[in-house]
Amino acid sequence: MNRRYLADFEISRISHRFTDVLIIGSGIAGLSSALSAAENQDLEVLVLAKGDLEESATRWAQGGIAAVVLPERTGDSLEAHIHDTIEVAAGLTDEENLRIMVSEGVDRVKGLIELGTGFDRHTDGGLQLTREGAHSFARILHRGDTTGQEIARSLVEAVLDRKNILCRPGTFAIDLLDREGACIGALVANETGELEAVWARQTILATGGAGRLYRETTNPSVATGDGLAMAFRAGAKILDLEFIQFHPTTLYLAGADRFLITEAIRGEGGVLRTKSGEAFMERFHPLADLAPRDIVSRSILEIMKETGDNKVWLDLGAIAPERIRERFPRILELSRSFGIDILSQPLPVRPSAHYSIGGISTDSHGRTSVPGLLAAGEAACTRVHGANRLGSNSLLEGLVFGHRSGIVAARAAAGIARPEPSQAVDPGGGSPAAEAAKNPGGDLDLADLLSSLKSLLWYKVGVERNGEDLSNALEQLSTWTAYPLAADFRDVESWTLQNMLQTSWLLTYCALRRRESRGVHFRADHPERDDVNFRRHMSISRADFST
Ligand code: FUM
Repeated sequence: MNRRYLADFEISRISHRFTDVLIIGSGIAGLSSALSAAENQDLEVLVLAKGDLEESATRWAQGGIAAVVLPERTGDSLEAHIHDTIEVAAGLTDEENLRIMVSEGVDRVKGLIELGTGFDRHTDGGLQLTREGAHSFARILHRGDTTGQEIARSLVEAVLDRKNILCRPGTFAIDLLDREGACIGALVANETGELEAVWARQTILATGGAGRLYRETTNPSVATGDGLAMAFRAGAKILDLEFIQFHPTTLYLAGADRFLITEAIRGEGGVLRTKSGEAFMERFHPLADLAPRDIVSRSILEIMKETGDNKVWLDLGAIAPERIRERFPRILELSRSFGIDILSQPLPVRPSAHYSIGGISTDSHGRTSVPGLLAAGEAACTRVHGANRLGSNSLLEGLVFGHRSGIVAARAAAGIARPEPSQAVDPGGGSPAAEAAKNPGGDLDLADLLSSLKSLLWYKVGVERNGEDLSNALEQLSTWTAYPLAADFRDVESWTLQNMLQTSWLLTYCALRRRESRGVHFRADHPERDDVNFRRHMSISRADFST
């Protein structure tokens, strides 16, 4: 677990590149930070993306972005948005950061509109706002059910338009480089797979979450916890990894990708039913289908146990067909491609991993515990969501704290010299496992390991957890981690698997330590919230495991 660099490298033998502000990740947080850092036109901003620039969880977001943009029309207020967020956050919100997010979010969302993001509007030109579960007012801006795609489009266009922002899609960041405890860039595998050192005055991690650790997830293929693992290896403080939010309704068809079925469908009148037609949510919560996500997810699992089915059904019969066509065109099209017509047939759904609430600990400007390193978006933990995230607050968080990180990184970068190349080399290796792993006496079946890892997380570290399962999972992960994590791999898939193993171990370790149920973390062996012992954020860092 304590390896510092995943790749063996000799600094004198690889190519070098210098930049001012290095941004790793191209979702809403990464691109917002790029735009605000680039306001200082004397600086160069370099954005690295593992895949295409538009390939991020942002692009996959359906529901929308919450912001109090029309209080005079809706009766909404900043205080109401803050209150709703606190209500679901199970006692752990950072109220100062939350206030920043909600109040600055209004201007940031208006900024997106100025950039050309086309949210849905009424025929009179006014913005259409919708209401989602646990929001007390209609405050969600959306674009049909492809809001994230529209936001990603406008941000990518704006970034490509800036002369001092350079983008390098297809570039994988392997590890952060540091000297005397400060981050000075990253070791990357460039577009042709060659190792390269990118030296930077300031580095922002905006690599997204870790939903792909789970067999069932709404997340894109890039959500493998790379940034978390990288930051951990570089010594950064990580917070609250146990808080994984599960989305109750993901399309469940054998062989199909687990496509998110937005909560907004239930906001419009969609009803969850058993195969025999019972609207079961009424049994579990007074808000029925609009109960908080964690409750809906657990209720679905309960029903699946009760009925022996591996899914439940989302019935859209109460929503007018014109409304479905207008509001959920992508879901309509996708379902039809699988032979289901949601205008007359229910959708098979079940929960899946959706959002990493914990992450790299940051202050209100995105600064981490490592000087020179900032983080924003799902990779970061600003503590605004507490232990349970209110729907449609995540794009807002990425937008606001991405913007703030960019400003602070640019200011800091302008005040320091470009770093000299460091003689940083892998101090790892030498252990029996490391030596054996370099020559494991047979190929490791990485595909098999990946599939076993995802199943383990889903069944033992999933929606409902208990101490025995978590202990067993941790032991299993320790075994699986020993050889692959020490091995000297040379390709992105293998480095990604190493990051997934490391992040899974950390997440499971954190879930085992939190011996209570709070927000999205439900322990069947400790079903109550324990404010005396656990009303606190729990941090973890590499130093905790130093021998
Ligand atoms: O259901 C949804 O559309 C999800 C929204 C979110 O995760 O914020």
